[in-house]
Amino acid sequence: MNQKTVLMSPPEYFKVEYSINPWMVAGATVDLDLAKNQWNNLKSTIEEAGAEVKVVPPSEAYPDLVFTANSGIINDQEVLIANFKYEERRGEEELYSNWFNENGYSVGRIPSEYKFEGRGDAFVHGKYLVGSYGIRSDKEALLYIAEKFNLEPAIVELAEEKFYHLDTCFQQFPTGDAIFYPEAFRDSSLSAFESLFNLIPVSEHDANQLACNAVVINNTVIFPSENIEAIKTVEGLGLNSAVADVSEFLKSGGACQCLVIALN
Ligand code: ARG
Repeated sequence: MNQKTVLMSPPEYFKVEYSINPWMVAGATVDLDLAKNQWNNLKSTIEEAGAEVKVVPPSEAYPDLVFTANSGIINDQEVLIANFKYEERRGEEELYSNWFNENGYSVGRIPSEYKFEGRGDAFVHGKYLVGSYGIRSDKEALLYIAEKFNLEPAIVELAEEKFYHLDTCFQQFPTGDAIFYPEAFRDSSLSAFESLFNLIPVSEHDANQLACNAVVINNTVIFPSENIEAIKTVEGLGLNSAVADVSEFLKSGGACQCLVIALN
C-alpha cells in the first residue's frame, strides 16, 4: 500500500495582516517562533502517525499560504485549483498551480466567476463530492467540480461566518463516523450527509476550539488542543488521538486540518 502523503507550507512569513474571517484581527501579534515550533510539531506528529510530508515553499507576500487545505481539490493525479474569494489570497493560486504542475499533477481551473476554496470546502468521498457553500465557496463551483470528476454532489449550506469552511465544522473518520457542529449549518441536522456518515454533534465549546479541524492520518486523529471533549468520543470509536497545539494559527482562523492537504 502507498504511504499516505500530505502537503504543508512552512510558516516562514506567517502573520495576521488582514481580516477575512471573524477569527482574524488585522495586525494581531503572532509569536512567529512559537508558530514555527507549533507547525514543526504538527509536522512531526503527522509523520509519527505514518504520513510523508511534502512542502510548498513559503512566500513573503502570502501569509495565508500556510493553509494548504485551500489550495484545491485533488482527485487521484488531477487537481482543480482554488478561486479564492478574497483578493488577499488570490496570488496563492499561481504558487499552488506551479507546485502541482512541477509534481506531476494534471492541473485544471474552474470558471473564474465561481469562488471555491479547495479542501476547506470539499473533498472526494467514494463516488461523492462532499462539500459546503455559502461563505467562501459557491454552490455552482461544487456542482461544476462534481460533474467534472463524475461524482454525485452531497452538498450543504453554511450558516455562520465564524465557521466559514466545511473543515472548520465537520470532519470524517475512517470508521464511517464524522463529527460536526450543528449550528454551523443551515440544516443543522445535516440530512444531506445522513446516508454517508454516522453523524456525531460536537458542543459549542469544542466548535470554538476548532475541534472539527482535526487532521486524520491513518487511524490517528490529531486535535488542535487538549481542551476538547471530542477527544474522548474519538477514542471511543477505537481511533488513536494526538494533540498538536496550533494556537498561533487559530488567530488566523485555522487549525490542524487547514494546515494540511492530503495528496492521496
Ligand atoms: N486566514 C485563512 C483564511 O481566512 C484561514 C484559512 C483556513 N483554512 C481552512 N481550510 N479552513 O482564508
